Amino acid sequence: MTQPQHTGGRVNVLTKPEVIGTIEELRSRLTDAQGRLESERAGRGDAGGTPRIVLVPTMGALHAGHLTLVRRALSLGDIVVVSIFVNPLQFGAGEDLGTYPRTLEADVAALAAEGVPFVFAPVSQVMYPEGAASTRVTAGTVGSLFEGAARPGHFDGMLTVVAKLFNIVGPDVAVFGQKDAQQVFLVERMVADLDFRTRIEVLPIVREDGGLALSSRNRALEPAQRAAARALSAGLAAAASVADQGSEAALLAAHARIDAQPLVKLDYLVVVDPQTFLPVGALHHGPARMLVAALVGHTRLIDNVALDLP
Ligand code: PAF
Repeated sequence: MTQPQHTGGRVNVLTKPEVIGTIEELRSRLTDAQGRLESERAGRGDAGGTPRIVLVPTMGALHAGHLTLVRRALSLGDIVVVSIFVNPLQFGAGEDLGTYPRTLEADVAALAAEGVPFVFAPVSQVMYPEGAASTRVTAGTVGSLFEGAARPGHFDGMLTVVAKLFNIVGPDVAVFGQKDAQQVFLVERMVADLDFRTRIEVLPIVREDGGLALSSRNRALEPAQRAAARALSAGLAAAASVADQGSEAALLAAHARIDAQPLVKLDYLVVVDPQTFLPVGALHHGPARMLVAALVGHTRLIDNVALDLP
């Protein structure tokens, strides 16, 4: 792979990112890159501070939503690492671990076009040399609600791999997408509870024309299913438009759109308090978030929208 070039105070690539498969190699490349940037800066008489590392954790099968995270990462830091790892720990029995899309070559090409210098793409044995990690981060009560109720253990597995990635990469900032609202809540809480020094940056959901939130799983949808799946974002938009009448009105408006679509099998539709991620009570007012999850064919889709309740 082409070596990263160091230009203008930031690590950049002219052609391809360096794709790294081991923890030792990644750490050593990052230390080298930081050292080189620091001495370049010193040579220019630029104090600058320690070069900032920004991580974008992904499971690959990258789409335009991921690329907005990557662009933000490139604008925030000096050294950007995109991790690509389909984490077995966050998939339950009978879930789509085996069929989850793996498109490493296309992902690396997309990251090359963005100018990403480092891709960390370990195999499972590198991340879990002893098999499934016996020490895990637990997501607590919120981790067993909503996505966690449908996918027991999912959030413990997700937090465990995110904690490992933070320890491996040592990022100043990590960039996540708001589509996985419960994931973002739990990662932010883990960072606070366990005193990670990484700042979490959250970017808005990216949608296709028609409103469907971008997801790596969308590629499994047949055309009729993809059309039907738009009922989720349409329902959320309907809810947001009547949120000034309260959470019950918002829920009714969303149900009306989603329940009318026979190909969409609703799992949950709920309004939560963004501070606690617990369902709002009747007296709740101010910021809230409506979450939805549904099966369309065999594909599980999630989406959410911010509400401002009176
Ligand atoms: O959102 C994802 O793609 C995954 O849950 C993450 C954060 C990369 C951890 O495996």
